[in-house]
Order: sequence, then C-alpha cells, then structure tokens
Amino acid sequence: MELGLKGKRALVMGASRGLGRGIAAALAAEGCGLILAARNAERLAQDAARHTHEHGVPATAVGLDLADAASVQGLIDTVATLGGVDILIANAGGPPPSGALGVAPEAWRKHFDSMVLGLIRMIDATVPAMREKRWGRVLTIASSGVVQPIPTLAMSNTLRASLVAFSKTLAGEVAADGVTANVVLPGRIGTERVAELDQAAATRTGTSVEEARAKSAATIPMKRYGTVEEFAAVCAFLVSAPAAYVTGSVIRIDGGLIQSI
Ligand SMILES: NC(=O)c1ccc[n+]([C@@H]2O[C@H](COP(=O)([O-])OP(=O)(O)OC[C@H]3O[C@@H](n4cnc5c(N)ncnc54)[C@H](OP(=O)(O)O)[C@@H]3O)[C@@H](O)[C@H]2O)c1
Repeated sequence: MELGLKGKRALVMGASRGLGRGIAAALAAEGCGLILAARNAERLAQDAARHTHEHGVPATAVGLDLADAASVQGLIDTVATLGGVDILIANAGGPPPSGALGVAPEAWRKHFDSMVLGLIRMIDATVPAMREKRWGRVLTIASSGVVQPIPTLAMSNTLRASLVAFSKTLAGEVAADGVTANVVLPGRIGTERVAELDQAAATRTGTSVEEARAKSAATIPMKRYGTVEEFAAVCAFLVSAPAAYVTGSVIRIDGGLIQSI
C-alpha cells in the first residue's frame, strides 16, 4: 500500500528512544521528512543524519525539555521557521509509578505541564497551518491505562485521560479541514521505559526482572510484549493518506491486553 508520506514533514516528539524513535524510523522509511525532538539532542542528531543518509529525507534534530515552557516555545518557533509540519506525533515521557493517593500537588502539576500541556501547546501551534493546507495528522500517544487503569501508574492513567478528551474535541473541530486527530494506546511494547517499569516491579516484589517480565507478559492474551516496529507500523498507517477517514478514534495496540470491548 502506498502511504502517501513522501515529501511530507513530521514533528516527532519523544523521538530519542522507544516508541517515538520507532515511529520516526518508520516515517523516514516512507520518505517523510522529520523534525525530531527530545532532551537528548546528541542522539537525535545521530538519528537525523542516519535517516537522511539511508532514506534521503531532510531531518532536523531539536533539543526539547517539555518540563520547561521556554523550551516548548523554542520548538514552536523552530517549527514555524522550518515552514510547519504536516504530521505531529504528540508523545512525551511517562511519570514515575505511584498509587492514586499520596502524590504531592507539585508532582501532579509538574507532570501535567510536561505530559499534557506541553503536547497541547505543540498541537495548538501546528494545527492552524495544517488546516490552511487542508491536510494534517495529529497522533497522540497515550496508554492502555486510560481505558483500563494500571494500579501502579495513577498519574499516567489520570493525566493521559485528559489527552484523549482533548484529541476527541479537536477532531471534531478540524475534521472538515482534512486534519485528523487520533490517539493510540500502547499496551506493553518492549521499550526502555517498559524495561525500567519491570525493574521497578521486580524491586517492589523482591523478584528477578525476568520473573517480573514473565508475569507481566502472561497477562497479555498474546503472551508477549509488542515490538517497537509493530507499534510504529500502525502509527505510520494512521498518519498516512489512506487513513484520511479515521479521526476522533482511540486505537489500541496492545496484543489484546485491555479486557473490555
Ligand atoms: N512502551 C509502552 O509499552 C508504553 C505503554 C503505555 C504508555 N507508554 C507511554 O508512551 C510514551 C512513550 O513510551 P516509551 O516506552 O517510548 O517511553 P521512553 O522509552 O521513556 O521514551 C520517552 C521519550 O520521551 C522523551 N522525553 C522524556 N521526558 C521528556 C521531556 N521532559 N521533554 C522532552 N522529551 C522527553 C525521551 O527522550 P529524552 O530523555 O531524550 O528527553 C524519550 O525520547 C511514554 O509516555 C510512556 O509512558 C508506553
């Protein structure tokens, strides 16, 4: 299938590792130009050079700290200088594990700023130009926890739910202008973050990390974690030309993990 991504430009946030990095690689392979953003600008610069070398796509690396409002403004300005983007992958780092109770108000505020407000600011800054061009894609990465809350990740469950509501509202506002807004829900995809969560679970329960991972995988109907490539392939389709009629949707990429329909 031709995805129609050649010559488009995507801003991929959280692109230095894990899901964002995998999506950037999938888009580059389809001929899509890239702006890569995260704190680890050195790694992004290496990736950008590799994508240009391997796929002939223009790629720019931009240092971004979503916890710093001025840094978010810097990315907004850079994207505007580069002429805007056709595709935005709205992705941020996850919060530390916690229950629902006992989280300090400052922690809620801090993670709201970086996980929610930073993404909303980027969406708000980039969508007007997409509407003018009458083509655009906004894909937000959330979590299975917004449908089936994960007991150890209360902040993630809570804050990401607001991104689902935001995306659905946005989708209705911009649908007639050829811009789609969707959310993907990773279940457990084998990234560094998931490895860190397995390590935390092992420490908490006094088991080995292998045991913690096996216990976690056993709860997934497919009995394994997804790969970054499997996740990124679905995302590349969702931001493609053939996916033009998919909007306001929440798509699970979870190997069947979420129990409800
Ligand atoms: N993997 C899964 O199965 C899964 C499941 C459910 C939800 N999620 C969520 O999906 C998102 C991506 O997952 P992942 O597994 O790829 O996580 P990850 O490996 O931790 O990657 C997170 C990315 O976000 C960037 N980032 C973190 N803090 C940032 C900040 N303050 N400013 C700018 N960029 C920042 C990181 O780069 P720098 O450190 O270079 O900034 C990195 O590129 C996370 O929020 C995660 O919680 C993942």
